[in-house]
Amino acid sequence: MTSTSRAQFSSKFGFIMAAAGSAVGLGNIWGFPTQAASNGGAVFLFVYIAMVCLLAFPMLVAELTIGRYGQSDPIGSIKAIWPKGKKGAVLLGLAAMLTASFILSFYAIVAGWLVGAFAGSAFEIVGLQKTAEWVNSFGLTRNLLLMVIFMLTTMHVVKNGVHDGIERWSTRLMPVLFLLFFVLIIYIFTQNGAMQGLEMYLVPNFAHFSPELFVSAMGQAFFSLSLGCGTIMVYGSYLSKDINIPKTAAQVAAIDTVVAIGAGLLILPAMFVAKEHGVQIFSEAGELLSSDTLVFTVLPAMFDTMGETGLVVSLIFFLLMVIAALTSSISMLEVPVASAIEAFKCKRTTAVLSIGGLITLIAAIIVFNFGALFGLVIKVTTVYGQPILGLFLALLVGWVWNRNKLLEEIKQGYPELETSLFWKIWPVYVRVVCPIFMLLVFFA
Ligand code: PFF
Repeated sequence: MTSTSRAQFSSKFGFIMAAAGSAVGLGNIWGFPTQAASNGGAVFLFVYIAMVCLLAFPMLVAELTIGRYGQSDPIGSIKAIWPKGKKGAVLLGLAAMLTASFILSFYAIVAGWLVGAFAGSAFEIVGLQKTAEWVNSFGLTRNLLLMVIFMLTTMHVVKNGVHDGIERWSTRLMPVLFLLFFVLIIYIFTQNGAMQGLEMYLVPNFAHFSPELFVSAMGQAFFSLSLGCGTIMVYGSYLSKDINIPKTAAQVAAIDTVVAIGAGLLILPAMFVAKEHGVQIFSEAGELLSSDTLVFTVLPAMFDTMGETGLVVSLIFFLLMVIAALTSSISMLEVPVASAIEAFKCKRTTAVLSIGGLITLIAAIIVFNFGALFGLVIKVTTVYGQPILGLFLALLVGWVWNRNKLLEEIKQGYPELETSLFWKIWPVYVRVVCPIFMLLVFFA
């Protein structure tokens, strides 16, 4: 099963940064605060944390283990644990690959807007006011151009491979992201109105408790941890055998959750700070206005409060947002690229150019039919695709995969596994609790 030439992350730190890089992205900084702000703040926060611990973390372990065992692209790795007649494995792998590709197609559009916000700050600093306005206002050419720039950058990193591309970029950029984030959170708390946001975030409003809240929180947790679309399996396949998978998965999940919670600590207070400065955030009825563009309205308003320095902070902030998006988008593109390399035995560059080109084309079609397609693609891939694929993977690991082989795989980096509490709970958990949970939440 193991091929000696398969690329590997060079260290545990490199892997954690790459996996956390995949996990930490627009889902944390854009998705989570938006969901929290529109779903009763703390109520969403608590349900979300429960979903991460009870569902997403066990699935993260499952997907990493499938990948490391299979030592292949998702199709190959699923095949490796599939019992007889491999058609089902191919189908499941293909579905994961398509989900990752379509997620990338809308992700690149939003990431493009962030590129725009970044470039806008730069243009403003050098006095190109008109260009700054153009790059910040919604429009066909602008959306298209920015998306293409982002896709080309993603393709450039993936072309350089696992070690020189994905790992190198992730380990350099993620620590910078954490630092700036921290500084901004501290700053926002010195501003008027911040406490109101904090209250909304941390004091639960149980009126929002509903089955839909659970569905949203589950979808958000799956999206945030990059589950159910092959990404984690592919990264698992580059993971060395002496790494303790449960422990490493817990670290990745913890980093991702801390960043999401941190983004809430930044964005919700920033909403009220912006409100203090005359930006309308809520409708007369108290509903959040334009929740999808929250990050693009609220943050610039917050930066405005900083005067001249605000431009520089805005520049750095949006650069880091682009970085967060980039370390996620490279993991998405790696899924179909790894599959193409495996299936067609082609060069990495050829795979990156053809598949990256195709996804750029799909994203362009979405840009041209924005109203009809954008929301639809997000819904199909993240609300249905990821959780349903996650369900199949849980069933596969829980019911189909030979328990001894599963044990042997995880044990390689965790010698005391058999006597651990983890091994007493996790296998049964993935077998029974995760599928039931997903079905319940899904059909609620
Ligand atoms: N986890 C990323 C985020 O929170 O922005 C999004 C993501 C990355 C989803 C990779 C799916 C994926 F395969």
